[in-house]
Amino acid sequence: MAILQVQDVGKTFGSGEQAVQALKPCSFSVQEGELAALLGPSGSGKSTLLLSISLILEPTTGRITINGQTVYDNGWTGVDERAFRRRNIGFIFQQHNLIPFLTAQENVALMMQLNGAGRREAGRRAKELLGYLEIAHRADSLPANLSGGEQQRVAIGRALANEPPLILADEPTAALDTERGTKVMALLRKIARERRSAVITVTHDHRMIAGFDTVYHLDDGRLSRMDQAPAPGLHQMAAG
Ligand SMILES: Nc1ncnc2c1ncn2[C@@H]1O[C@H](COP(=O)(O)OP(=O)(O)O)[C@@H](O)[C@H]1O
Ligand SMILES: [Mg+2]
Repeated sequence: MAILQVQDVGKTFGSGEQAVQALKPCSFSVQEGELAALLGPSGSGKSTLLLSISLILEPTTGRITINGQTVYDNGWTGVDERAFRRRNIGFIFQQHNLIPFLTAQENVALMMQLNGAGRREAGRRAKELLGYLEIAHRADSLPANLSGGEQQRVAIGRALANEPPLILADEPTAALDTERGTKVMALLRKIARERRSAVITVTHDHRMIAGFDTVYHLDDGRLSRMDQAPAPGLHQMAAG
């Protein structure tokens, strides 16, 4: 089942001589359990596309359907954007954006409470989720006392808090070294495989693209799908 359908979505900033066509009309879809990468140089329109899908930035044209609901059709269709986002989309930023005076567990639990969970229930589920992300032992730490990789895992926990069908990550490994970045990517892969979320990860780091189901490339606002050779490991698994 397609969790995300993007049809002819384009975005132009400004008008007249100042106009910047950040995103040329593009179409693609992402299925349940699919892990997609979005590559492209700085300024190619990656964030513009992700923010449009997240109902944060209004596109100029096209149609966006998320989890069966058309949210944009040459204009917002009138869904309550905050409530919709909270239920359907988990967003992971380049910087973790955790609330500094809340512990790791409280940061995750807060998202659940905003979605209607009671305090105790949210606390319990947040702890469980941190366990899944292998940082339960850091549940009571403040963000400032966590490493970059740990902070990003808590941020992933926050994005997963309400079990959204769609997860969007904008350069989640940009602030991390290769080893920690690889771990975060492995975690996103696990989420797609085990929780069946549709995951789109923006990266400009080509070292990170192994193991994606689909790879898209943006170049000066033009989206294309890249054909990729199967990873050797996958090939052997299929053969064996
Ligand atoms: N709010 C804005 N106003 C005007 N131009 C913008 C705005 N946001 C992005 N742009 C322009 O749109 C293009 C794509 O930007 P962006 O989506 O941020 O690229 P990326 O995430 O790939 O680095 C760039 O030329 C950028 O300068
Ligand atoms: Mg960007």
